[in-house]
Amino acid sequence: MMKRIFLALSAVLFFCGNTNAQSIALIPYPNSCVIASDSFLLDPSVSIVLPNLVSSQDAAISICLSSLQTQLGFANRVDQKGATAKQIQLVLAQLDNASQDAYEMNIDQKGILIKANSKAGLFYAMQTLLQLLPNTSRHTAVKIPCLTIKDAPRFAWRGMHLDVSRHFFNTQFIKEYIDFLAAYKMNVFHWHLCDDQGWRIEIKKYPKLTEIGAWRVDRDKEWRDAQPIQAGEKATYGGFYTQKEIKEIVAYAAARNITIVPEIEMPGHSIAALAAYPNLSCTQVPQQVIPGGIYPKGIQANYCAGNDSVFVFLQSILEEVMQLFPSKLIHIGGDEVDKTDWKHCAKCQARIEQEQLKNEEELQSWFIRKIEQYVVSKGRNIIGWDEILEGGLAPNASVMSWRGEQGGIAAAKMKHHVVMTPGTHCYFDHYQADPSTEPIAIGGFTTLKKVYSYEPIPAALPSAFHQYVLGAQANLWTEYIPTVEQAEYMVLPRMQALSEVLWSANEIRNWNSFSSRLQNHLRKFEQEGWRYCEGNFKVAMKPVLEDHKMRVQLETESIEDPIYYTLDGSDPSLFSAIYKEPITLSSSTLLKAQLARKQVLKGKPSSLNFTMHKAFSLMPSFEKPYSNYYPANGAMTLTDGVFGTNDHHANWLGWSKSEMITTLSFPKDTLLQEVELGCLQNYASWIFFPENITVSAILKDGSTKELATYKTDIKNTKGAIVNRVKLSFPVQKITKLKITAGPLPACPKNHPGYGDTGWLFFDELVVR
Ligand code: ACM
Ligand code: ZN
Repeated sequence: MMKRIFLALSAVLFFCGNTNAQSIALIPYPNSCVIASDSFLLDPSVSIVLPNLVSSQDAAISICLSSLQTQLGFANRVDQKGATAKQIQLVLAQLDNASQDAYEMNIDQKGILIKANSKAGLFYAMQTLLQLLPNTSRHTAVKIPCLTIKDAPRFAWRGMHLDVSRHFFNTQFIKEYIDFLAAYKMNVFHWHLCDDQGWRIEIKKYPKLTEIGAWRVDRDKEWRDAQPIQAGEKATYGGFYTQKEIKEIVAYAAARNITIVPEIEMPGHSIAALAAYPNLSCTQVPQQVIPGGIYPKGIQANYCAGNDSVFVFLQSILEEVMQLFPSKLIHIGGDEVDKTDWKHCAKCQARIEQEQLKNEEELQSWFIRKIEQYVVSKGRNIIGWDEILEGGLAPNASVMSWRGEQGGIAAAKMKHHVVMTPGTHCYFDHYQADPSTEPIAIGGFTTLKKVYSYEPIPAALPSAFHQYVLGAQANLWTEYIPTVEQAEYMVLPRMQALSEVLWSANEIRNWNSFSSRLQNHLRKFEQEGWRYCEGNFKVAMKPVLEDHKMRVQLETESIEDPIYYTLDGSDPSLFSAIYKEPITLSSSTLLKAQLARKQVLKGKPSSLNFTMHKAFSLMPSFEKPYSNYYPANGAMTLTDGVFGTNDHHANWLGWSKSEMITTLSFPKDTLLQEVELGCLQNYASWIFFPENITVSAILKDGSTKELATYKTDIKNTKGAIVNRVKLSFPVQKITKLKITAGPLPACPKNHPGYGDTGWLFFDELVVR
């Protein structure tokens, strides 16, 4: 009897090794998977039959067969016809689904029949089959659930990037990385081969690129504090891949259905290349590869766009690169070019004049177009970071959208192919759990659940242009990832979440199902000795206003571990209350909460201080809306009893177009005598205190009566400061209060934004 996938099945539970699993533990989950209650016994008597395949020696097939043998712990006979009763058949066929990557798999008590349109499809089917086996070899027959799978990927570009410039990773790890991708049906490896901190690919015509550009001084320091090389020091840290190694890795990837897209950065991020060939920069000053994030004054990161030798150099490099990498797309970087040096360079300025360009943005665009012409002349195309849109997009270029979705949307609307990799969801160098308990990372906060929630087709992109979104990829920048162990930790298991986002149909995606299936994969990582992140255990606390009552929701990314909490300021223990439903607050409270897994409290407790006051849980209304960029927790942020700190990203409502005017209506006449408004200044983020605050009562006839005012000069104080402004007035009965704070500030003289308006930020409007 056949049953649908998301029903809890006893046969399925058996195969999951996890009593809460609701489906077989496949990741990415197939688009159609119907499971029967029987099983197939895979033992050494089963033969593997390849009726219409050239040979089991074909690279992709032989990799699959040897993985199967390793995972089973015994070898099955392989032949073209198959004389045994039980068989695993791999057949090239023409499926109803025309995708080159589609496959079908039918498992019954007699055997396994796999059909695919291509060897790629067979390879994907075999990855699915491997996930149906026990994680480690048991050297004995294994039971596999009888099922029927029909599967094909949602997106054509299922990518993972790796930066090998900031830290060098040897070929052994590159192969391991490719294995991770292959096992989860990812198909693009974007190899970031050069940047300011190291050049990593042998180029025969320019040997100094690796003799000089691949090495830097070894600094055992946090990236941001790594001082440049001093006189007398030797550059000993680094490495590079020889062309022989590159060829081997390209073949290794190809056999696993993975295209390697090499990235040769230009015109910026090129300090390492210019350390080897300083004559190609604007100032031509000699320089050395930098070991971290400190950029010494005068260092040259850009190729000189006015120097013709630069194009001879880059074209020769690209020629060798294209001989090594068969990828149709060649990544030419293009991001984060500081064009100041071009502004001061006579050659660059002459180029602008001669080519009748408007400015340095157009000079960058001209540079990229020139490179594109060369790449196109060799039968390939370029892809670049979304800055290549600025100053005009080259005619055949594809765009990688990293600064949010906007670049991708703009390029797709121009009918250019795009790959989505926004920092919000796809930067795997970001923290994935509470930063206070995690190894140091570059910043950000991109949890497993956030990756899983990613939708590569931007909501704002009209459907006519969806076809231009090739897919998405995650980027692993390695400034804060010096070791193989840390690289594994940052990728696993976020890559598994992304693989399901990119492969499985939207309707299939289900966080609880994924979380539960993932457990089996985590056990595999443990068995293999791969580092991985257990998850984000930090308890998120969210005040919600329901029926005029403030309640606090507690949430973690774990679907099964309990949350313990206290209301008296003490740290939670395993004897504290277990969270079951949103907590109603009726007095000032310090709430603390912590998750426990297997009876062990994880990470550090989360805490939130709630201060009761007369406007607590009243919903304020605003005459002019707050900015969509700083909506905090909505209007109720001002009255939720939680005070904003000097971190302007949390708990503050921001205005950038007008002053703030809010009204509070009390359910009945209420005796009041003071208002306190939290105001934030953050000079570097263009946020300034308001000059005036006025508190008025709105009387029954609709007129207003001013109760108190506050005036100050905008102080030019730097840093982030909170000022809780108190406005007192004689005690009186009030039903409606109006508070005005403004005007919208102007950035003061000497501020980088001088001439522009700044922001107003407010949080908690306390009424006593
Ligand atoms: C990038 O993250 N600079 C593309
Ligand atoms: Zn120049």
